[in-house]
Amino acid sequence: MNFKEELENRVRYAQENIESFLPKEEGFSRQMAEAVNYSMLAGGKRLRPVFMKAMYDMLGGTSEMIRPFMAAMEMIHTHSLIHDDLPAIDNDEYRRGKKTTHVVFGESAAILAGDALLNYAYETAFHAFDLSRAPEEMEQAAEALKILGNRTGINGMLGGQGVDVENDGREMTKEMLDYIYENKTSALIEASLMIGAVLAGAEKETVETARQIGSRIGIAFQIQDDILDVISSREELGKPVGSDEKNHKTTYVTLEGIEKAEEEAGRLTEEAVGLLLELPGDSSFLKELFLSLMDRRK
Ligand code: IPE
Ligand code: IPE
Ligand code: MG
Ligand code: MG
Ligand code: MG
Repeated sequence: MNFKEELENRVRYAQENIESFLPKEEGFSRQMAEAVNYSMLAGGKRLRPVFMKAMYDMLGGTSEMIRPFMAAMEMIHTHSLIHDDLPAIDNDEYRRGKKTTHVVFGESAAILAGDALLNYAYETAFHAFDLSRAPEEMEQAAEALKILGNRTGINGMLGGQGVDVENDGREMTKEMLDYIYENKTSALIEASLMIGAVLAGAEKETVETARQIGSRIGIAFQIQDDILDVISSREELGKPVGSDEKNHKTTYVTLEGIEKAEEEAGRLTEEAVGLLLELPGDSSFLKELFLSLMDRRK
């Protein structure tokens, strides 16, 4: 199987898995479930669950416990996008090629759907306990949950989003920008790779290496996102371009220019690949995936 076919298969698996955990659209809370499912099914690259499963397979994981965690990760990510697009945050009207949740369902429904999805992610992840086959798997699921909570919260994605929004329109140092990227974007990618490793039964050092890989891939990914916000089109990207300029954001592009930003993303990706090669197992798929992200167009 070549890389492209393997990627398609892995994205399809992630997609089917996500669909299997979505809430039912019924009863008085039907509209909320519809808003949640609208944003979850609007498309998206499904990179984080693909990262998680690829690390898991590479390190020899065999349990079904990975499935609820893959879905939970994409739910937390999608929650972050629903809220990131709100009028009070980035105020964007397109996401994943469709109108944003608040445009379709109204602002109050989108706020609540985002909250509900964040909570539903944990409800979903808890299913891992039902799928565990032995006490040590219970412990792995508990450890994975700790990582999920920590990398999502105030010292992770949400903390990064907070500092990002607080500083709209302000001059920022590279140090602060790195803090923002490490948290708003790397944190969930770190969590994906770390959870894949933990559920495969990896040692602490391997989990830490997975975190370091995610840190670099996440920052490179956000730099690329900032570049695409300048050079791409809404049709290609599926979300508005010029969002950062509209919000007076400091980015790697405004600080260093596109060329240097690209170089930095390339350097970080190479570092990540170097770390990946230190880990046991067949890393060829993840390596190709990391390298392919360097010239992604969406
Ligand atoms: C968008 O993430 C938000 C950032 C961290 C830049 P993705 O580019 O992975 O978005 P989807 O999931 O494919 O829509
Ligand atoms: C936000 O970064 C990353 C999140 C945690 C949602 P951006 O605001 O640049 O993400 P996009 O460009 O809207 O996807
Ligand atoms: Mg934002
Ligand atoms: Mg945004
Ligand atoms: Mg962006």
